[in-house]
Amino acid sequence: MKIAMLGSGFIARFYADSLIGHRRLDTLHAVYSRDIAKAKIFANDYKLPVYSDDMHEVVNHPEVDVVVISLPNDLHLAAVAACAKAGKHVLCTKPLGRTAAEAKQMLDMVEQAGVMGGYLEDLCYTPKFNKSLASVKAGALGRILWAKSREAHPGPHSNWFWDKEQSGGGCIVDLGCHCIEIARSYIGKDIKPVEVMCWAATQVHPIDAEDNAIGMVKYANGAIGQFEVSWCFRGGMDLRDEVMGTEGTIWINNFLRTGFDMFSTGKGGGYVAEKAESSQGWLFPVGDEVNELGYNHMFTDMFEAIEQNRPPAETFYDGYVVNAIIDAAYASAKSGIWEPVKIEDWRGSTQTKIATDFASFDEQYYLIKEEILPHGERKLILKDKTTGEVVVRDI
Ligand SMILES: NC(=O)c1ccc[n+]([C@@H]2O[C@H](COP(=O)([O-])OP(=O)(O)OC[C@H]3O[C@@H](n4cnc5c(N)ncnc54)[C@H](O)[C@@H]3O)[C@@H](O)[C@H]2O)c1
Repeated sequence: MKIAMLGSGFIARFYADSLIGHRRLDTLHAVYSRDIAKAKIFANDYKLPVYSDDMHEVVNHPEVDVVVISLPNDLHLAAVAACAKAGKHVLCTKPLGRTAAEAKQMLDMVEQAGVMGGYLEDLCYTPKFNKSLASVKAGALGRILWAKSREAHPGPHSNWFWDKEQSGGGCIVDLGCHCIEIARSYIGKDIKPVEVMCWAATQVHPIDAEDNAIGMVKYANGAIGQFEVSWCFRGGMDLRDEVMGTEGTIWINNFLRTGFDMFSTGKGGGYVAEKAESSQGWLFPVGDEVNELGYNHMFTDMFEAIEQNRPPAETFYDGYVVNAIIDAAYASAKSGIWEPVKIEDWRGSTQTKIATDFASFDEQYYLIKEEILPHGERKLILKDKTTGEVVVRDI
């Protein structure tokens, strides 16, 4: 397949590095940038035969099969509309929309056009995520009770992110979209997100949007998703996830402390990793960022999905659900109460029962806990099923 890139900035280059970094069947063929000089530089750097400052020319180019959108958030809707009109498969970066209403329009457009809408949520494709999710799906952690994801860094690299109108908000829409989808994946995409409680504040930067936020997403089965996002964090990019289930736990550190530590006096300088604040002192480089951040696995899934006529792991529908959760987070940050997640066409399970699975010890008792004390003594803590009395039994 031949690919067109819309945009030539930060994420367009990460995507291009992934698309051409390994031998692939699919080739990056064209680029659009509003600045023709930048389009030409991008085309030269990646050896693309086609470049233009006209988005429609690139989207409608007869040799282009798939379009990748790497434009600021306020331009996703118009770009998706152009792709749907041209009948081209479209892969859009995160967040899908600034709001759920925008995301829903994009979802409807690709579905009506019969093209694939892939949601480029790279952090749901990292090698660590892929392996963790496989373990969770195999039941290694039992029933998932809580999934937390944190993304915090000193703030984004371009002016438009800091303008609420263009970006749709602050760190919730920019970083929360990743964290929400990570937690939702562990809890189960089939489980309906019901309500959100969120605190958000503008603590450091002179902007209209929030630069710090924490939120909880309540799911229909009783599980809780948690996101922690910040544009105020100092020291690089903190990407950590925790999953807690009835039978186990996963802790993931994706970026700052991956087992690769380096010290430099700073004389040589150089790039360390995305959002690293220093190239001096003890540093935490990332071996292969394009791979560690999930881009390689993401594009492989996207192109295989098109070829096999199946949905990818991350679709425009997922992007829409994430936007609906973000809308509820903003409503809650304003109202100070739990706010409902409004999803117009929920496609998952309609189960509303809160899951519990009390372990039965015998006919009379539930087993609350088995304990081993420091000197080797063992005991059982039991609850009488009828009277409710909690008792201890030495074993
Ligand atoms: N991990 C990720 O998935 C990830 C990381 C960073 C950014 N993003 C997303 O990628 C998108 C782009 O972000 P970025 O970091 O590349 O930003 P950027 O500012 O580095 O690049 C934006 C590109 O859009 C172009 N552009 C800006 N305003 C435009 C306009 N009015 N008309 C036409 N083109 C315009 C710029 O020239 C540039 O080529 C955003 O939606 C962002 O959320 C995703």
